[in-house]
Amino acid sequence: MSENRTRFLELLPMAGHTRGKRSPITCALKCDNACSGEVCNTSRNDYFRDIASSAMSRRSALGLGAAGALAVAFGSAVNGAAPAEASSTLAPAAKAGYDKSHLRFSAIKPVDAAVDEFTVPRGFTWQPVIRWGDPLFKDAPAFDVNAQTASAQARQFGYNNDYSDIITVPGSKGRRALLFANHEYTNENIMFSPETPAAEARAIGRAAHGLSVVELERRNSAKPWNYIQGARRNRRYLIDTKYELTGPAAGSPLVKTSRDPEGRWIEGTLGNCSGGTTPWGTILSGEENFNGYFVTPGASPAEKRYGLGSKPTARGWEQDDPRFDTRNPGFENEANRFGWIVEVDPFDPTSTPRKHSAMGRFKHEGANVIVARSGHVVAYMGDDERFDYLYKFVSKGKYREGDRRHNMTLLTEGDLYVARFTGDSPAAEIDGTGKLPADGAFDGSGEWLPLVVDGRSAVPGMSVEEVLVHTRLAADKVGPTKMDRCEDVQPSLRTGKIYVACTNNSDRGKPGKEGPTEVNPRSLNRDGHIVEITERGDQTSTRFAWNLLLVCGDPAKNGSTYFSGFPKDKVSPISCPDNVAFDSVGDLWISTDGAPSTIGYNDGLFKVTLEGPERGKVEQFLSVPRDAETCGPVIHDRDRTVFVSVQHPGEEGSWEEPHSYFPDYVPAGAKPKRGQARAPRPAVVQVLPR
Ligand code: FEO
Ligand code: CA
Ligand code: CA
Ligand code: CA
Repeated sequence: MSENRTRFLELLPMAGHTRGKRSPITCALKCDNACSGEVCNTSRNDYFRDIASSAMSRRSALGLGAAGALAVAFGSAVNGAAPAEASSTLAPAAKAGYDKSHLRFSAIKPVDAAVDEFTVPRGFTWQPVIRWGDPLFKDAPAFDVNAQTASAQARQFGYNNDYSDIITVPGSKGRRALLFANHEYTNENIMFSPETPAAEARAIGRAAHGLSVVELERRNSAKPWNYIQGARRNRRYLIDTKYELTGPAAGSPLVKTSRDPEGRWIEGTLGNCSGGTTPWGTILSGEENFNGYFVTPGASPAEKRYGLGSKPTARGWEQDDPRFDTRNPGFENEANRFGWIVEVDPFDPTSTPRKHSAMGRFKHEGANVIVARSGHVVAYMGDDERFDYLYKFVSKGKYREGDRRHNMTLLTEGDLYVARFTGDSPAAEIDGTGKLPADGAFDGSGEWLPLVVDGRSAVPGMSVEEVLVHTRLAADKVGPTKMDRCEDVQPSLRTGKIYVACTNNSDRGKPGKEGPTEVNPRSLNRDGHIVEITERGDQTSTRFAWNLLLVCGDPAKNGSTYFSGFPKDKVSPISCPDNVAFDSVGDLWISTDGAPSTIGYNDGLFKVTLEGPERGKVEQFLSVPRDAETCGPVIHDRDRTVFVSVQHPGEEGSWEEPHSYFPDYVPAGAKPKRGQARAPRPAVVQVLPR
């Protein structure tokens, strides 16, 4: 048995039993056992716990007139300046309103968790657009799962695609597009033979992390997209790709290392989870569970707040590069160089990607931007950890239509806020069961608490650099609301309302942990919920109203669910909302991560109607194969097509006993065709009319 396999067999049981939604393998490899470890947020920030306040006027809070103007502002901004039509922009079709989408379908039935199938509605079919190991460059070898090497992997599509977007190239008559994907982490237990030499296995794993850009083509809008090997803009971002650190923390002593004495140039990106596409056609990517890549013996309180600790990492990269052990002289600050929002220009394969310190450092799920009426750019961002916070960034500069060079500077300087939610119902009515309070809604008001304003720290005792590098600690000091794991956070470009996917928090209400609050109303919250936020006026406002849109679960088995009043017997069961997206008419789409271990069904993609008599109606569009999570939904409803990233299919299996054969599904005994594999492969999938 190789050293490599021995290592993984040793490490996986360390995960212990899984207390949340995840399998032990996901816990160990993706989140560094975040759920089986201690809660990182041990701050006594409980003084502001959802206290009841006088009921506010929802009508006055909604500011609908402003929202309409805002959507228009954003739409024109996109059309004028981006080199491409960002997939999330509203089109003229949006005027048709909710539920007027061309993408009509009958909801599928949920699929049992052990089933290894990709399931789509009647009348639709699916195909992988690109799979783990597909060669991106002319010199890249075809994928061979039995002979994978690090040098091949560096020229091929990476592993575990999470956030993805597909941006149509302007002037191509809809026949060319760029596909962007994050490669969040690796599943070494199923990626290659246990006989693979350990050092090579680690090197393959490193080369399978990072980001990819790849060009797509199609014959017309009714035909499937195919990727182009060797296209000019194809690019892999690898562990040694140089990123420029921008903003107030660039050059700070907190981020300097012996390899980067300037504190401005960072090698690689890690834990890239969700993201967003900007109005100027760049991609934002969130560095999430970066802590799992570093050994930090004697971690300081600041390091522990980010989950850093002394144990060897699951992947053992510290054996190959001293920077992954932060006690090595010169690398004490290396972990401070991860946990940022990354901005990438997919249209320029020679561009230098950047990490924006002004947007704060935490376990960034992603970031989604909208242009406020005032012209400032506002980004919404979740910190995906139990009892951590929701943030927003407001740019100092203003958006200039058509001036891409200027717009690409907007995320380098601005104000940073963290959210405090106040419920409007008496605390005694929030009993942790999910029972609605007497006013019939989980709702209330909220405040964006300043961390950095006008280039100055708003946190007593901390400099701007400290606030931005140790953002979690800074936030602890101002009393934000501890949330049930904010994953994707996205504004609707139709209404300006913001949708926050709180994926779950099975620790809420446990002894010694914070109990239910109106915005996180269930104890032992396994199924998650969706918060709907309405800024009071302009998107830059520091006040908002909020309500829960969905309290997730299987209503047939769980009385604590809520679907904005829509009949519970007419919705698809949904659990662990993770990524959100909008279609061109403004309906919300939600992908899930964790349903197998909560409601017993494979994860999927769901459409949620937001307005009209069917508000709150949840309809399942697709279901992903065994052990997979559904990520990065992209809804091109005008083409009647949808894309999802299928991440970690079959991850609870092993090399010898695969749980999944997605997406090639090579029959037993058959010889795989060139580039195929009889093994699970993460892939970006297109669903289109049959
Ligand atoms: Fe990578 Fe927050 O999920
Ligand atoms: Ca209420
Ligand atoms: Ca996620
Ligand atoms: Ca997830």
